[in-house]
Amino acid sequence: MIYKMSFDINKIRSDFPILKRKINGSNFIYFDNAATSQKPNIVIDSISDYYKNYNSNIHRGVHTISQEATDAYENARAKIQKHFNIRNSHEIIFTSGTTHSINLVANGFQDLLSDKDEIIISGLEHHSNIVPWQMMTEKNGAKIKIIPINENGELNMKAYDNILNSKTKLVFVNHVSNALGTVNPIKTIIEKAHKVNAAVLIDGAQASAHFKTDLQELDADFYTTSAHKLCGPTGIGMLFGKEKWLKKLPPYQGGGEMISDVTFEKTTYAELPHKFEAGTPNVSGAIAFGIALDYLNEIGFKNIYNYESSLLQYTTEKLKLIPNLKIYGESKDKTCVISFNIDGIHAYDIGALLDKFGIAVRTGQHCAQPIMDHFGISGTVRVSLSFYNTKKEIDVLYNSLKQAISMLS
Ligand code: ALA
Repeated sequence: MIYKMSFDINKIRSDFPILKRKINGSNFIYFDNAATSQKPNIVIDSISDYYKNYNSNIHRGVHTISQEATDAYENARAKIQKHFNIRNSHEIIFTSGTTHSINLVANGFQDLLSDKDEIIISGLEHHSNIVPWQMMTEKNGAKIKIIPINENGELNMKAYDNILNSKTKLVFVNHVSNALGTVNPIKTIIEKAHKVNAAVLIDGAQASAHFKTDLQELDADFYTTSAHKLCGPTGIGMLFGKEKWLKKLPPYQGGGEMISDVTFEKTTYAELPHKFEAGTPNVSGAIAFGIALDYLNEIGFKNIYNYESSLLQYTTEKLKLIPNLKIYGESKDKTCVISFNIDGIHAYDIGALLDKFGIAVRTGQHCAQPIMDHFGISGTVRVSLSFYNTKKEIDVLYNSLKQAISMLS
């Protein structure tokens, strides 16, 4: 679907101070947005404003600045609730990011599953959605089944139907693959999982910067993302969990704030969401997360989606003009991630030379070794774009790549 675009790219770029940098004498071009996004002034300033004017602990003090910080922190939770259309604000847990969120859920299910149960993971997962489940199944004996991927880097949904059964208790899939950009059919995956009463956790880390997700409509049992992928700071993210699940799962960490009553004999836990927020949280991070969502919503996700789709198409067409360049992951539905290799040249060498031209890309396995194994490669060069990138920057990439290839051949 094409939306009406009103999108001032020059104004947007001026919001990001880092884009003014020179690297190795060239204008800085940042194409590593899937690793982390850059931050606009409004987000950076909100962190400095917090520490300059109302830094204090929250939910604990009667004094003015503690109240201000508590209000700002809870206001950020309310912004997340509105953005993702979450029914109850207490279904949102602040975590340090997606990895923390997944570990929290995996830890919670440890005692709820046994060696008679099965869980399903997609073949497109980041290590953070593989390793915590392996750690869990080492303890409870549950079996892990994998949804395989095809040559386009899409999930084989027929194979999913075949491995899904009444023993399946949990399904874990990323919304978007960090290594290939594939957008997975999560709505269908969730509907099918619910038919056998399995719960579903969606890793939304690579999706939330690119489009808006309505969690009531999606009906996922858990959904998680990291603020730093969507112009917010590192060290803060959110876990959405349906109330029925968050009530069932035990706390992940014990400490202050997550308790209701403590004696040396017994402790009772606080109500949601505090049961899962032990210790002093990342207050400035949560506030800045909310500001980042405001910023993106102000630009408009429809505008972002349209702009990025046109960048993806332009980049793909341009890169395909380079002889012996192979793109991995050509799903019909994908975000602006282009993973590629050039015959006979190591991805690392391309990445290192592009850096000499001021261009930042990621090279290697992208924390997704099983995907690389599927394609029989050791890694790729990954160009991951954002709404602040331009076609002019893609032209510089194209020319720099041609130069790098002639130097390395
Ligand atoms: N998961 C991040 C990436 O894809 C770090 O680069």
